[in-house]
Amino acid sequence: MTKNKNNQAIWSSRIKKKTSSLFQKVGNSINIDKRLYKEDISGSIAHVEMLFKQKIISFKIKNKIIYGLNKINKEIINNKFEFNIEYEDIHMNIERRLFQIIGEEAGYVHTARSRNDQVITDFKMWMKTATKEININIDKVIKSTIILAEKNIKTIMPGFTHLKNAQAISFAHYLMSYVEMFNRDKKRFLNNLDSLDENPLGVAALAGTSFNIDRNYTTKKLGFNRPTNNSIDTISDRDFVLDFLYATSICSMHMSRIAEELIIWNSDGFNLINLSDKIVTGSSIMPQKKNPDLLEYLRGKTGNFYGNLFSMLTILKGLPLSYFKDLQDDKKIVFESNDNLNNCLKIFDEVLKNSNPNKIKMLELANNGFITATDLADYLVKNHSMSFRKAYQKTSAIVNFAEKRKKKLNQLTLEELKKIEPKLKDDVLKVFDLGNSISSKISYGGTSFDNIKKMIIKYKKK
Ligand code: ARG
Repeated sequence: MTKNKNNQAIWSSRIKKKTSSLFQKVGNSINIDKRLYKEDISGSIAHVEMLFKQKIISFKIKNKIIYGLNKINKEIINNKFEFNIEYEDIHMNIERRLFQIIGEEAGYVHTARSRNDQVITDFKMWMKTATKEININIDKVIKSTIILAEKNIKTIMPGFTHLKNAQAISFAHYLMSYVEMFNRDKKRFLNNLDSLDENPLGVAALAGTSFNIDRNYTTKKLGFNRPTNNSIDTISDRDFVLDFLYATSICSMHMSRIAEELIIWNSDGFNLINLSDKIVTGSSIMPQKKNPDLLEYLRGKTGNFYGNLFSMLTILKGLPLSYFKDLQDDKKIVFESNDNLNNCLKIFDEVLKNSNPNKIKMLELANNGFITATDLADYLVKNHSMSFRKAYQKTSAIVNFAEKRKKKLNQLTLEELKKIEPKLKDDVLKVFDLGNSISSKISYGGTSFDNIKKMIIKYKKK
């Protein structure tokens, strides 16, 4: 350790040759894990406070170490700290600097701990904060979605199955379906908190320690809930990383689905959605173009989230217990997915604030494709005591008749309808009205205007 002052590796007392520069280049992670400096410093402070409380180190040494760590914290914040790849990662960069600031007594900071428990302690603390930030960004997206929905309760559009007109819906109801997805995304991130709340610190390299440490003390100090139960599992476990990556993947997948729909609806073929100039780009050759690049970015980025999830799954597949260098990549993967997700959520929020339905086109399209056929079948069941299957057949005959005459259902006269079902009375004609069709879907969770209003109020209260 003395050699540490001379800028040699911590293990230079054992390993006599300098690490090959090639390995140093690929094996270091400082430019990635320096992001954990705050957590690393608070982890070390809690650790030495515990060591002092347990009479493992003296009051004086504890204070010196804390003084040094606080100084390092300031140096890093003020960009005065020199990160060095020779010291591999954030833990060793900080320890080395501690030696420079307080001298030999820095050597006590690593009593009863290992980088193995240190790194996951930092990582879990970081991930708890990251989870909160992501959920704040999801909340913003939810809010913007609700604002757009509220403006479009009466905006009628065709609901699709197989991308064919299925039944009339309100555009607001469509938008609110994404609110459900984003709320599940939030829950998925929050579910991980239970694992993130288990404190790894104190399991040391993999076996625990012979020092009389108090893991409950550091647990409390660092804002965890309880210490982990098994030292070997603690070092090996990256399930919380997978859960995080899975949650980012699903959230991104939701955005890719709405992005794809908006891309299709913005196309010249559909023309259902207008995108403001703020969120489109032009072409280098075709002067007329306004392309939905941002939406395409959101759709494409999902591949990166899936890739990161599968990278981590593959790293862990068949990996023996407990620590291996393989695991070091977890942070690069998670940081990338975290940053991309926050980015995508912000982009998507911008998209929501800069998109508007083309109400006329939506209504026009909803008037095609015999979209009220199911309403007619339901009417026959309710008013002419038919079984649904019988009503379905009658309605099919009416649709075929209209198609042959090149008419929409609402263009058929009562006389024409009566040719197929003589019992029909003129009140049947109101089932072909799209507004009536939507208003009638009063079952819980259905698209009726009243339901949507209530649902929006419910979410606004939240
Ligand atoms: N930088 C390392 C990582 O993130 C810290 C753990 C190092 N432990 C070790 N035994 N080499 O994985």
